Amino acid sequence: MVRTFFPTCVTMRTNVTTKTIRQAKGVRQIACLTAYDALTARLADMGGVDLILVGDSVGNTVLGFESSVHVTLEMMEHHTAAAARARPAALLVADVPFCVAHEDVPSVLRSCARLIRAGARAVKVEGGVKLAPVVGALVEAGIPVCGHVGLQPQQVHRLGGYRKFGDAEAESVLADARAMEAAGAFAIVGEMLGKGLAARLRDALSVPLIGIGSGVDCDGQVLVIHDLLGLTETPPPFAKPRVDLAASAVGAIAGWVADVRALPNSAPTSSPATPKAEISTHIPL
Ligand code: KIV
Repeated sequence: MVRTFFPTCVTMRTNVTTKTIRQAKGVRQIACLTAYDALTARLADMGGVDLILVGDSVGNTVLGFESSVHVTLEMMEHHTAAAARARPAALLVADVPFCVAHEDVPSVLRSCARLIRAGARAVKVEGGVKLAPVVGALVEAGIPVCGHVGLQPQQVHRLGGYRKFGDAEAESVLADARAMEAAGAFAIVGEMLGKGLAARLRDALSVPLIGIGSGVDCDGQVLVIHDLLGLTETPPPFAKPRVDLAASAVGAIAGWVADVRALPNSAPTSSPATPKAEISTHIPL
């Protein structure tokens, strides 16, 4: 049986560009999801998102690591190429993985060029004031950049965990966002910003602020697709699953396993040459 997905809300869409994203600020909210392969990119695109992020959260969600710091450029290239094969109309953005953006500018340019050749149409860089010159060089070279301020998961070891950013850090987070914007970022992800801080950033920036765990005072939202679809064992408190795909999948698998185990066994052949131990491995699993 050939199965196709029939989107109910999206048929043919024109490609979303960085310009589309910039122009949405103040006009309509921007919806973004992560995706890590052709299947999830296709689902996200058919659901109508504006931007698909091949996030380095692939490390936690798909690859079984404890954090995103284990994700390498080669892994990002591999997953970006897979997502790009879905040919999404949504803007495909690839995360620049741990430490790569902190290398010298020619190395960062070469790394980001690999992500663009893999099919990304922009990259996302975690960081602020210190990385602004690198962002400027990327933009200058023709590689659009989305910034990422507030909680930066690649800094988890320095921060000692994942936490909210509030009034105490307001000035430094604002400076980071402004530096990214001045360097040419077309949008900025603001992760785990307190309520007042998100609104301040949104109002201070001329480019869209895309929030995650930062409340509604943003120009758009981004979520990890596994959190939305109920595929994460312990999703963050701000991510409310809309469906429990893990439970459906386990139910389907367990039902199939039970059906397989219920199949009749072939009668053991009573050839004297077949030892007993070998016969017991003939159960159809
Ligand atoms: O890697 C990621 O998934 C992110 C989030 C902002 C969604 O950076």
